[in-house]
Amino acid sequence: MELITVKKSTCVKCGLCSNVCPSGVLSMKENGPIAIHPNNCIACGHCVAVCPSSSIDNIKTPLANQLDLESFPIINSNTAESFLRSRRSIRCYKERQVPQHTLLELVNIARFAPTASNTQGLSYVIIKNKKVLQQATEIVVEWMEDQLKNSLSPHWSFSRHVKNYREGGTDTILRNAPHIILATSPKDFKNGIKNTISAFSYLELFATTLGLGSCWAGLFEMCAFLNYKPLLELFHIPDTKVITGAVMVGYPKYQYKKIVDRNPLEVEFID
Ligand SMILES: Cc1cc2nc3c(=O)[nH]c(=O)nc-3n(C[C@H](O)[C@H](O)[C@H](O)COP(=O)(O)O)c2cc1C
Repeated sequence: MELITVKKSTCVKCGLCSNVCPSGVLSMKENGPIAIHPNNCIACGHCVAVCPSSSIDNIKTPLANQLDLESFPIINSNTAESFLRSRRSIRCYKERQVPQHTLLELVNIARFAPTASNTQGLSYVIIKNKKVLQQATEIVVEWMEDQLKNSLSPHWSFSRHVKNYREGGTDTILRNAPHIILATSPKDFKNGIKNTISAFSYLELFATTLGLGSCWAGLFEMCAFLNYKPLLELFHIPDTKVITGAVMVGYPKYQYKKIVDRNPLEVEFID
């Protein structure tokens, strides 16, 4: 089957499909677009989505699977700014579990984030079991202790986290979150971490609309990115895969009252 099909009776030959194609797949001819380099198609779906007369179809991104954009309200910039700026990293969670269908709704949004050459390539593990999360913290603490003993340059914060856990019984690694979501990718997939950053940025923002809070689990990631075996075994990560990111998720215990500022904007224009 051909990659691209064009409905000749409705195609207005505007050329938008070939203009927006990121990889030079399409060329405009007298009768409309044709795929001159079909193997270059990265399945981004732009050609189908931009066509003003729904005349082009692509087997990698079928027209039938694309929704009409006009039916969505456009949010104004003030609302968008407040929405983006009011997301905070949540480190105190209610003890309540998040329903599985909500976790699924949350993680589903992650696959719509932009990725290099539309490579995507991620899959997810959602931990619902409190005991498994406690074991994960214990494993990361043991790894930190090992780093403090044997590494020449352990991270500056490790001794504090170990002390919090061992002496204070406080988990400052996974923060007693009721869930963590792990992103994983095949071992030989080069864009795993980069794509995860993009995917989790979507996930963290969308979480707020479901009444959820989240926090990137960077300390956990330091251990996971070294393929620390006890951690991979705990989550049944197969040898063929690696963890590319981790984020805590749950219902926030507290509501924030202010929107924080950041470092001043540093920007230059070059005319
Ligand atoms: C890659 C990454 C790793 C992070 N790791 C941790 C972490 O291990 N523990 C934690 O409490 N917060 C972690 N954070 C949250 C940051 O501290 C937080 O984003 C930053 O302080 C800004 O605060 P805000 O997210 O509430 O706006 C991480 C954030 C990112 C992006």
